[in-house]
Amino acid sequence: MRVLVSGGAGYIGSHTVLALIEAGHSVVVVDDFSNSKPTVVARLESLSGQHIPVHAFDLADIDKTTQLFSIEEIDAVIHFAGFKAVGESVSKPLEYYQNNLGSTFSLLHAMRRHEVKKLVFSSSATVYGDNAPVPYPEDYEHLAAASPYGRTKVMIEHVLSDVAHATPGQRIALLRYFNPVGAHPSGEIGEDPQGIPNNLMPFVAQVAIGRREKLEVFGGDYPTADGTCERDYIHVQDLAAGHVAALEHLDTMSEPVRAFNLGTGTGTSVMELFRAFEKAVGRELPYEVVGRRPGDLPAYWADPSRARDELGWTATRTIEDMCADTWRWQSANPQGFPDGS
Ligand code: WQD
Repeated sequence: MRVLVSGGAGYIGSHTVLALIEAGHSVVVVDDFSNSKPTVVARLESLSGQHIPVHAFDLADIDKTTQLFSIEEIDAVIHFAGFKAVGESVSKPLEYYQNNLGSTFSLLHAMRRHEVKKLVFSSSATVYGDNAPVPYPEDYEHLAAASPYGRTKVMIEHVLSDVAHATPGQRIALLRYFNPVGAHPSGEIGEDPQGIPNNLMPFVAQVAIGRREKLEVFGGDYPTADGTCERDYIHVQDLAAGHVAALEHLDTMSEPVRAFNLGTGTGTSVMELFRAFEKAVGRELPYEVVGRRPGDLPAYWADPSRARDELGWTATRTIEDMCADTWRWQSANPQGFPDGS
C-alpha cells in the first residue's frame, strides 16, 4: 500500500516509516518540522535505500492537505502528527486543541474527498486516566485523561469513532502506546527531544552522554517494590511493527473502529530502567531521589492480549535491548540529529 505518514520525521513516525518500507509498502511523509528535523529523512533514505517524498506544511491547512491527496496516490494514512508534551499542554491548551484536533479534521476531510478509508491513529495510554484497572483493558469505557494533551487524544478517538461509523467501508485502528523508548539498532535514528527531555529514557541517555548532570528520580516513596514508579516501556521497533500489523489488519477488521494497546504487559520501575541503562553504558551514572512529580501514577501497564489475538503482534524486545539501542543512538549522536536539510 502507499501510506501517508503524518509526523513521519518524528520519533515513532520515523521508525514506522522504515518498518513500512521493509514490509514492502511505499511511504509519503508530511511533517511541518515543528518538533523534528529534515535530516531525519536523509537518514531514513540512507537506511531504506529509497527516495521518500516529503511534504512540509501544517496539516491544519485543509486546502494544502486536500491538494496533497491529489498530488500523491494514497491508499492509507498513519497519523502521528501532533503536539505531545503533557506539561506544555497545561500552559498552552488552545494551541494543543487547535493543532491536534485541527490536523485530524483536515486529514479526515481530505480522506473523505479522495475516498481514502484506512487510518491508523497514534493514541496513548494516557486516555485511560487515573482510575482504570491495571492492566489497562481496551474496553474500559470511562476514558478521561488528566491533561489537555491527553484530552486531545480522548476527543480524537471519539471523533474517529463517530466518523468511522458514519462512513461505509471506513476502517480505523486506534493504537494506545504505553511508554515508547529505544532506537533503531543501526544507531542512525532515535529519540531527539528538543530542549530538556520530559521523559525518563532520553533524560538518562543525556546524563550518560554528559549533557545533563544527573537523573532526578521523581519520588522514591511510591507503593511499589522499590518505591519508584512502574511503567510499561515498549521498544520503538516493536511499536513500529505494531503499526504495520494494524495497517495490514484493517481490511479484515469487522468493526469500523477498534482500539489496541501496544505495550509489553510488564511494569518496570524507574530504578530498574536506570540500572539497566548503567549496564548498557558500562559504568555507574549519577542520580538523586527527589520529590514526586505532580500527576504521576504509581504503576500501570497494558493488557496486550487483544493485539496478540487480533493483530498477531507481540512486543519481543527486552529492557536491555531498549537501553543498548538507546545508548548506541545517543553515543553516535551526542547532540541528536544535525541541523540542515
Ligand atoms: C516515566 C517515569 C516519572 C523523568 C509520559 C506521558 C504519556 C506518554 C509517555 C505521550 C515516571 C519518572 C521521568 C525524570 C523521573 N506520552 N521520571 N525523572 O509520565 O509515564 O508518560 O510519556 O503519549 O502521555 O504522560 O513517562 O518518561 O515522563 O516518566 O523519575 O527526569 O519516570 O516520574 O515515573 P510517563 P515519563
